[in-house]
Amino acid sequence: MKVENRTLFENDNLHVLRGLDTNSIDLIYLDPPFNSNRTFEASVGSEAAGATFKDFWTLEDLDNASHGELAEREPKLYEIIKAAEFSHGKSMKAYLIMMSIRLLEMFRILRPTGTLYLHCDDNASHYLKTVMDTVFGKDNFRNEIIWQRAATTKGNLKKGLARDSDSIFRYSKSDTYIWNVEAVTIPYDMANLDEKTKRQYYCVEPETGRRFSLTSLTAQTYDPDSHLTYDVMGVVRTWRWAEVRMRKEIAAGRIVQTRPGNVPRYKRYLDEQKGKRLNNIWVDIPNLTARSKERIGYPTQKPIALLERIIAASSKPGDRVLDPFCGCATTCVAAERLQRQWIGIDLSSKSYELVQSRLEQSGITEPVIHRKDNLKLYKQKKTDKHILFGIQDGKCNGCQAVFPFRSMSVAYIVAKSNGGTNAADNLQLLCSACGSTKKNRTQKQLIQKLENKGVLKCQRL
Ligand SMILES: C[S@@+](CC[C@H](N)C(=O)[O-])C[C@H]1O[C@@H](n2cnc3c(N)ncnc32)[C@H](O)[C@@H]1O
Repeated sequence: MKVENRTLFENDNLHVLRGLDTNSIDLIYLDPPFNSNRTFEASVGSEAAGATFKDFWTLEDLDNASHGELAEREPKLYEIIKAAEFSHGKSMKAYLIMMSIRLLEMFRILRPTGTLYLHCDDNASHYLKTVMDTVFGKDNFRNEIIWQRAATTKGNLKKGLARDSDSIFRYSKSDTYIWNVEAVTIPYDMANLDEKTKRQYYCVEPETGRRFSLTSLTAQTYDPDSHLTYDVMGVVRTWRWAEVRMRKEIAAGRIVQTRPGNVPRYKRYLDEQKGKRLNNIWVDIPNLTARSKERIGYPTQKPIALLERIIAASSKPGDRVLDPFCGCATTCVAAERLQRQWIGIDLSSKSYELVQSRLEQSGITEPVIHRKDNLKLYKQKKTDKHILFGIQDGKCNGCQAVFPFRSMSVAYIVAKSNGGTNAADNLQLLCSACGSTKKNRTQKQLIQKLENKGVLKCQRL
């Protein structure tokens, strides 16, 4: 479907995602519910008052057909989710199915050079990683960013450590992806460098007061045509630059010999350095507090600086950014500020109101398109088999054993020859062995036969 820049959908994201074109989005950031078993509400009296979303999951939250759809499309992923259910129960299964069918759509709509950032925490991060490795491919995993929300020691510290970080998984769609290293290079801030580091690594130039360090002038690769060599105690080494450049740096006073006989070194000024490359642990963007200026009271609102860093690192101006769980539209605001196109989706009716007012507060007056589509067109095609697979939890309704989707077939409970109809309550899924045993028999006769063969007893053990 055609979607304009600055569109905010007030819909279930699954149906919108199904309607978006394949290979049409450059960057996706999602901050979905984390399976925290809580309900979130906006602060009373805040701009976001009235916004609420639930974050506890049961199988009733899922369309029964989702199980069948996932088991048919991605049988291995369904197996992984069943393993998570084994250790974590039905709630984790429901949550991971909800996420997986959406992540499969997100993978489809990303451009080949696109990147997805999945924000989560330790409620489900380890399981989500296995889901992402299956959907995107383990080789497309780029980073797990650990975002320290705030240096806090809140929580029951008598029983353990404060939980103060989120995980943000970064996956690309292929091995050719957009990555702007400047976005993750932060300037050296003299004021923030502690005295010990300053003294340890940087001297002060008496004439100017500038800080500098002395670095090696030795070449990493040897090129006999363009490099001068020198001899230290019989070992021939190569200078870093060719003669012309070496002479230029000497004339500029940038090459220093600390003592006669010492190997000269290069004077690197702190204030000329591009900055420090971030690693995957981000501690420099604090979460919003009740007093933060940008806070509008939306539950779990994320800082604009976090989204700006992500967008700047993995997209170019003019690219299309999507946030399918956009809340108070932090991603949309950050994308607009960085001249990217954006699409937001949220179930909440508050999102549109908030994105409009947040953009205005940033001095942006472009109108936002508010869509509340009837997306029936994009709803999944459900067959009886998909629905029954969910209702029966992937088990054969005869022997009760778990089977892959492809190994089961729809069968009548009351055979057609005995007056059975096509009505949904007369249908069941059976494995091939139970299907051949059942034929025109009644359900009771089928079960009796399985009991006699000891099959059902086996399943109960
Ligand atoms: C953690 S919040 C996102 C907060 C957001 N990053 C921000 O800075 O405001 C999760 C959001 O997902 C939305 N949501 C949950 N299920 C959804 C669904 N199926 N479709 C669309 N939005 C959904 C909720 O309404 C909530 O606003």
